[in-house]
Amino acid sequence: MPFGVYPQLHHHFVMNSFSNPSSVSSSVFTSAASGVLSSFELSSVAFFGRSLAEYTQFFPLDLEALPGRSVLDVAAGPSSFTSAATRLGIRATAVDPLYGCRAETLAAYVRLDYVRTVAQMRAKPEIFRLKSFSSIDEAERDRRAAAEEFLADYEAGFLDNRYVGGALPRLPFADGSFDVVLCAHLLFIYERLFDYAFHLAACRELVRVSRDEVRIHPVCGPDGRPYAELERLRTDLAAAGIRSQVVAVNYEFFRGSDTTLVLERRVKQADFVTY
Ligand SMILES: C[S@@+](CC[C@H](N)C(=O)[O-])C[C@H]1O[C@@H](n2cnc3c(N)ncnc32)[C@H](O)[C@@H]1O
Repeated sequence: MPFGVYPQLHHHFVMNSFSNPSSVSSSVFTSAASGVLSSFELSSVAFFGRSLAEYTQFFPLDLEALPGRSVLDVAAGPSSFTSAATRLGIRATAVDPLYGCRAETLAAYVRLDYVRTVAQMRAKPEIFRLKSFSSIDEAERDRRAAAEEFLADYEAGFLDNRYVGGALPRLPFADGSFDVVLCAHLLFIYERLFDYAFHLAACRELVRVSRDEVRIHPVCGPDGRPYAELERLRTDLAAAGIRSQVVAVNYEFFRGSDTTLVLERRVKQADFVTY
């Protein structure tokens, strides 16, 4: 029973989010009929994941340039990115507060959170603009396959330190540990659960553990509007020596999810003059 003996790092951090998967915050829902944008109902953080193919589109990634490089997937959940990337020769590591739980526990989170997330997708078709899938059914099949691939790889990958327990805004890695750092579907999209200070600290932490670049997707809230504090965030990051850019990507799933935030240290190690 290898997983029982590992500390469940930071599990408490998201415990509330997971303690009542069926809980509904009616205040979050706004309807198109009322003239207000309909919104995804993100009352807790879902253990829901996407495939390497989807990551490749929304970050976007050049898979030919990545083999041999180190990539960290933060808030990775049951995404198959790390499993598939490892097979391609990319030195991929995934971090999530729930890693360290037993595989059966993670499979149970997948079962619950996929049902509730997909139910929302079907209930609110007006918030979707699928570019990469022909239907919600196809997206569901693809994402369920991603979770299956993750679960099949999890125990071996955990023992291999490819799946690491940890949570923003403090990651268990040294400065500059990874060439590229990715973070999808945690920041901005859960803006009602995480305040501005968390977002700023999280962005700085992602940059701290990166050598080259950080990519964060999407840059909108659950109603598809750009993150309300984006300009303030970019100003504060610039003051901390972090360059930011919002780039358009050839991807959209829910309305407004067609951009990615790219962060770079202004002064990279290569920029230092050595004597
Ligand atoms: C919606 S999933 C995104 C999975 C994957 N990145 C993707 O885009 O398919 C969000 C993940 O964030 C994790 N999470 C929750 N709080 C977190 C935190 N403070 N730091 C890092 N991850 C967190 C959850 O456990 C969950 O697996």
